[in-house]
Amino acid sequence: MAIEDRIEALGKRREESKLGGGAKRIEAQHERGKLTARERISYFLDEGSFEEMDAFVTHRATEFGLADRKFPGDAVVTGYGTVNGRTVYLFAQDFTVFGGSLSEVVAQKICKVMDLAVKNGAPFIGLNDSGGARIQEGVLSLAGYGDIFLRNTLSSGVIPQISVIMGPCAGGAVYSPALTDFVFMVKGTGQMYITGPDVIKAVTGEEVTHEQLGGAMVHASNSGVCHFVAENDQDCLDKVRLLLSYVPQNNMQETPLVEPSDYPERMDEELLYIVPDDPTKAYDMKEIIGRLMDNGEFLEVHEYYAPNIITGFARLDGRSVGIVAQQPLMSAGVIDIDASNKAARFVRFLDAFNIPIITFTDVPGYMPGVDQEYGGIISNGAKMIYAYSEATVPKVTVITRKAYGGAYIAMSSKHLRADINYAWPTAEIAVMGPEGAVNIIHRETITKSDKPDETRSQLVAEYVEKFANPYVAASLGYIDDVIDPRETRPRLIKALEMLQNKRDTNPPKKHGNIPL
Ligand code: HXC
Repeated sequence: MAIEDRIEALGKRREESKLGGGAKRIEAQHERGKLTARERISYFLDEGSFEEMDAFVTHRATEFGLADRKFPGDAVVTGYGTVNGRTVYLFAQDFTVFGGSLSEVVAQKICKVMDLAVKNGAPFIGLNDSGGARIQEGVLSLAGYGDIFLRNTLSSGVIPQISVIMGPCAGGAVYSPALTDFVFMVKGTGQMYITGPDVIKAVTGEEVTHEQLGGAMVHASNSGVCHFVAENDQDCLDKVRLLLSYVPQNNMQETPLVEPSDYPERMDEELLYIVPDDPTKAYDMKEIIGRLMDNGEFLEVHEYYAPNIITGFARLDGRSVGIVAQQPLMSAGVIDIDASNKAARFVRFLDAFNIPIITFTDVPGYMPGVDQEYGGIISNGAKMIYAYSEATVPKVTVITRKAYGGAYIAMSSKHLRADINYAWPTAEIAVMGPEGAVNIIHRETITKSDKPDETRSQLVAEYVEKFANPYVAASLGYIDDVIDPRETRPRLIKALEMLQNKRDTNPPKKHGNIPL
């Protein structure tokens, strides 16, 4: 056959491979408000950058009439391309072919790009839309999941891994996303569960819809499985692109820099008035974050989960940073089980990928309560302490108001190897709040007093004078400086500049044993 004819035949095959499960199924996909696998890839990557791999792979199953039902590429599109000029490896499951289910060859295709991603040090992104294990292929398909889980685990902390849930994600299929760094879900179409509503009804008798069981908001607010929620496919892919701009390609690279577009010396008068004079009044920590970071930009992670603690990405003088902060608006910013888990996981991501950690502290303590104790606030609360302690990236802390008890230590204190610890003049660093402290240490004086309320107030005032300020900690060197809130942005930027060549290590070990 002449080469021209061969080229024509290749073109035909290539066009065929782009049809997935056929026009009817593509239409059904669109009717559900979903893009197809190829449309998603083409929207997500820089224009014209996609290099597809394994477009001609077909499944090898013969049972259940599958021998005659083959689709080039099978139920996944895989390859690599660029996002803002930086390489990423990715797969997009094709729901139009056998419901995007995972066959032996689908798993092989995915593993091939995962291996390339880790070898070449670039992020790996999975666009999930799948009915789970290809039922007709039995254990071959289960083995395929195992191969993926292993690679997810070995790549963890080496390259950023992102999972995007844009359709059903059932059974073992949810465990690959769970092993990755960030999970994005599309409202209304993305669903994740181990067992679907039918199985649940049969086993426990509970009746629940797919969305109630595993929809985006459920996992964003209740379970914490989902880090980012999106309105539709396009919105979701835009958000993934934004996240990628904050993270390095791999664990050997430094934090990403962009051309600074905000004045590093910018002072902000308003910062004087955000923390109320009355220590019992709440305020919005996000306002402080917004005023300090470049152009007020902040990409919040886990926005709807444990909102008493804030985690997210921002930039300071063009340098990507991770932020962990209390939210005094929510439960006074107390640290509970969920908050500790959320912060610890984020701190470990930042540390793995060389992103400096900026911590803003206003914490009344760890959450008291029977539920919290029974739920394991002891071991869960310890996760934050562990994560901050082992982190060797630059760590800068600003105490805006309360820093009480164990929570003072946990929130990136000097004692856990923080590099620079600042306090605002409004900071109160003490073992506990004034009321509680006075009730314990002066119980007898108060009960014996003729005017117990007056005596208590007087003792509280004395305690506040003595302890509820930053100067005791500053006199001991636990606080490096007490700073004018207006100067916070330039001081943070100078601290990060000073720390840019930081080298710190942990003792040699196979791995630590974080209290899981
Ligand atoms: C083979 C599958 C499939 C699967 C769907 N299809 N899931 N084929 N294996 N797992 C096929 C359907 O037969 C159908 O083919 C087409 O995909 C579209 O599916 P529909 O059911 O028509 O679509 P929809 O109504 O939208 O429902 C989507 C769905 C449902 C919710 C995902 O298909 C479903 O519940 N699938 C099974 C989910 C599941 O339990 N999977 C196994 C999990 S166990 P035709 O040709 O008829 O159009 C698992 C273990 C892994 O994953 C463990 C690893 C450790």
